Amino acid sequence: MLSENTNTRKPPGPSSSQNIGVNPESLVTLKRLQSEYGKVIRMVSTKGRPLYFINDPEVMRTLLVRHHSNYRKGPGFERVKMLLGNGLIVSDGSSWRRARRMIQPSFTRQSINHFIKLMIECSHSLIGRWETVAKEGGKLDITRETSDFSLELILRCIFGDDYEAELLKHGTNPFGFLSQDPNRNLRVVMQVRDTRALIKAIIAKRRKEKKTASPDFLSKYLEATDKTGIKFTDEELLDEIITLLVAGHETSAGTLNWAWLQLARHKHVAQILVNEATKLGAAQGCINQENLNQMSYTQAFLDETLRLYPPVWIFSRRALDDGGLLGWHVEAGSDLFISPYLMHRDPSYWNEPEVFNPGRFLPDAEEPKGPQAYFPFSLGPRRCLGEYFSFLEMKVHLTLLAPQFNMQLDDEKEPGLDLGINLRSNQNITLRPRLRMNN
Ligand code: HEM
Repeated sequence: MLSENTNTRKPPGPSSSQNIGVNPESLVTLKRLQSEYGKVIRMVSTKGRPLYFINDPEVMRTLLVRHHSNYRKGPGFERVKMLLGNGLIVSDGSSWRRARRMIQPSFTRQSINHFIKLMIECSHSLIGRWETVAKEGGKLDITRETSDFSLELILRCIFGDDYEAELLKHGTNPFGFLSQDPNRNLRVVMQVRDTRALIKAIIAKRRKEKKTASPDFLSKYLEATDKTGIKFTDEELLDEIITLLVAGHETSAGTLNWAWLQLARHKHVAQILVNEATKLGAAQGCINQENLNQMSYTQAFLDETLRLYPPVWIFSRRALDDGGLLGWHVEAGSDLFISPYLMHRDPSYWNEPEVFNPGRFLPDAEEPKGPQAYFPFSLGPRRCLGEYFSFLEMKVHLTLLAPQFNMQLDDEKEPGLDLGINLRSNQNITLRPRLRMNN
């Protein structure tokens, strides 16, 4: 490895310009270029901007952790910005630092553990309908089920009692389109904009009520202050609430969608997961932070699902100044792309990367390089804030439902990938639930 002061090497790469971005074609191009040029590649965009693709775990860590302050968010995030305004995921520099400091206390383990009860309720509410479908020998649109589940949960966690009092008072959920419309196009951006008035009204009501902080996210965000004691303005709050809603919904929903498919495919994996839930009392309805944190196999199962299907499958940074990454020279203004999807499936870092094997994440596993090449939640100061929340949510959902329902495949075909802002299945996955006690 070269010293970091020797920032003179220019990475190899093609001389022709390349169109790399958050789109399906990039996956094919990057795979091809990698086999030709290696793990760190330099290209030029069709507009003449230097582009880098990084598929080396050490260089990736240097970019995201040690040198993070030399970069801001790169291409792809402008699309997210249309949806989320200037919320935490897309903001940069001092406004990001201020908001992150204000929001971080809402994501301590202690704060998130308060939501376990809601996670249980939202999971429990699925049982009746799934049972009816199972008894009738019918199918479940599991993509839709997991999406509705995760949307209801995050709305309840954000708005608390106002979920029912304000959001459902007209009968239909005004955010239902997030679950029903898989496209993140202009229409959805407009629909999100339409909901701003509603959120604003709830914020105004809460400000008037001057309630003491209840454990929902909105009350915590309303109380949050920066170093000088200043609170979020209404506009800032709106952007942060919409960020939380979108970030907290799609990612966990997408992961649960793939997780159920894996449980239907790998019966022995499903059985170990059910055994663990039974051993820890969760299958019998006793779910709490202690047994959730003891679920090492369920954790490994989710880690493996996220390895193969990381919802944020590619993302980018833009260099603010000339600099270096472990000896590679990076010019100011360059765009750098990293792909959890490609690194998580790279045979130089993983044994049999295409095989679904939760065992590789168990403490005694022999996977020498894998952990270094694993980053579904990103790394460094901009690492996902919702990691603990999403693991609790997914564990509660699975340990409550998997012991009851043995999912059968409806179709042997591998669903294709929809490589949009988030990775999803390109068609809804349907599964046939059977009651376990009848098996
Ligand atoms: C399986 C579930 C999830 C995955 C894989 C995931 C992944 C990610 C990734 C990769 C980033 C960073 C992107 C970057 O560095 O450019 C991120 C940021 C973020 N995520 Fe998540 N996420 C998940 C669930 C959640 C949930 C449930 C919430 C909220 C309840 C959430 C809230 C956030 C926020 C607020 C940020 C911005 C952090 C910052 O920039 O300071 N995420 N997430």
